[in-house]
Amino acid sequence: MSLFDAAKAVRENAYSPYSQFKVGAAIRTTSGAIFAGCNVENVAYPEGTCAEAGAIAAMIAAGETEIAEVLVIADSPQPVTPCGGCRQKLAEFAAPEVEIALAGLSGETQRMRMSDLLPGAFAPAHLER
Ligand code: THU
Repeated sequence: MSLFDAAKAVRENAYSPYSQFKVGAAIRTTSGAIFAGCNVENVAYPEGTCAEAGAIAAMIAAGETEIAEVLVIADSPQPVTPCGGCRQKLAEFAAPEVEIALAGLSGETQRMRMSDLLPGAFAPAHLER
């Protein structure tokens, strides 16, 4: 299955009764495995989680940590980019050159690198004293 197909399929399961905005995300790891996630909203709005966070959780639960490629899909006139928090979450497991593909329902529309999405990322080196 392609990243696009995986993200499109999981998007259908998004739980988004508050925003009515379904998002799907799929991660391919360096092993070639694909992990998918969708947004899961909550009546206590800040408790909702993004599609990217779900895909990352599935990857970690399977024992993998190295992201090779990401695809995010939504039904929007503009390509949907990961929110600020998700950029930091992705950067934990994606090297600066990793590509994040942005897609609408009929296909991929844009590609960005991790380093474009989060330049100057807070990184483990910043914890060194
Ligand atoms: N959302 C995601 O899941 N990922 C993104 O990259 C952007 C936003 C979700 C959060 C919320 O459930 C809905 O989209 C509207 O903001």
